[in-house]
Amino acid sequence: MRAPEIRQKFLDYFISRGHSQLPSSPLVSDDPTLLLTNAGMNQFKPVFLGEVTPASPRATTVQKCVRTVDIENVGRTTRHVTFFEMLGNFSFGDYFKPEVISYAWEVLTEVYQLPPDRLWVTVYLDDDEAVEVWRRIGVPADRIQRLGWADNYWSMGVPGPCGPSSEICYDRGPAYGEPGGPAVNDERYLELWNLVFMQNIRGEGGDKDGFAVVGELPRRNIDTGLGLDRLAIILQDVESITQTDLLAPTFEVVEDLVGRRFPGHDGTEASVSYQVVVDHARTIAFLIADGVLPSNEGSGYVLRRLMRRAIRHAQSLGVTDLVLPTITTSVVDNLARGVAGTGIGEVADRAGQRP
Ligand code: GLY
Repeated sequence: MRAPEIRQKFLDYFISRGHSQLPSSPLVSDDPTLLLTNAGMNQFKPVFLGEVTPASPRATTVQKCVRTVDIENVGRTTRHVTFFEMLGNFSFGDYFKPEVISYAWEVLTEVYQLPPDRLWVTVYLDDDEAVEVWRRIGVPADRIQRLGWADNYWSMGVPGPCGPSSEICYDRGPAYGEPGGPAVNDERYLELWNLVFMQNIRGEGGDKDGFAVVGELPRRNIDTGLGLDRLAIILQDVESITQTDLLAPTFEVVEDLVGRRFPGHDGTEASVSYQVVVDHARTIAFLIADGVLPSNEGSGYVLRRLMRRAIRHAQSLGVTDLVLPTITTSVVDNLARGVAGTGIGEVADRAGQRP
């Protein structure tokens, strides 16, 4: 299943269950605590905090996100990228735990037809209610794992809304490592979807892995994030996140520039460099389209670092020509071909290449 269909099926499912489709917010956040938009819920922070009343109690989005915390892992693992699209459904004081778990299960096993016996779930340590709902749905006890603050308590990484979460992971099989579930092997048990039971407020500091819960939100909310790129790995049966149709055309452009085929995700420095160039091309294109320019500070510094890394890795593959114009144009062309109507095609729109 190609990415445009994956997006549309997600939106159609949640629209048919009373959610309003809202646009992605820009990558440059108006939240002073954030450098760049890093999750679907960012634009709803004032709603969760009770500062703004939403037009509708249910929303669904395809949100563009940039996260560079794992930048060194790009190309080294099969699952890290610096830009991704997050498919999300949100409840603002409306439905809560049982409903969101049922929705997510139905989407994965019926809409996308993933085999139920490949799915594992994690829940926060003392979340007996989530365990009970998963058991009722039919997930066996030995595929439900309880994890702590670092894994199953979600926040934006800064003070603000937070809550316990439940993650759904897909078992990619023994070719990806030892058994034992997501608690022991993140590469084999690929995290696809995070369901956050958004009910608390995170404060400064704290003794729980640097986490302090300082209060409750005015209402209990739902915030979810399903990684489009990661789901595409499974539905397109490719090995690495850089090999889905979201990035494949850029791969071909990089192969042409290098004059050699990508060796596959084989752990060599060449393999890593191909994937870094392809990943960073997309992030650079989206950042510039959203108004970021290279500089010494803030989001401009993030962009400059990505550009330097992309050039350095291209050079290590033997490319001596100008690389950034060619690779970022291929990102725009790819978007122009495949994203009509999803709200994620702004890069192509701004470049005037939308068909
Ligand atoms: N807000 C949920 C997530 O980003 O995983």
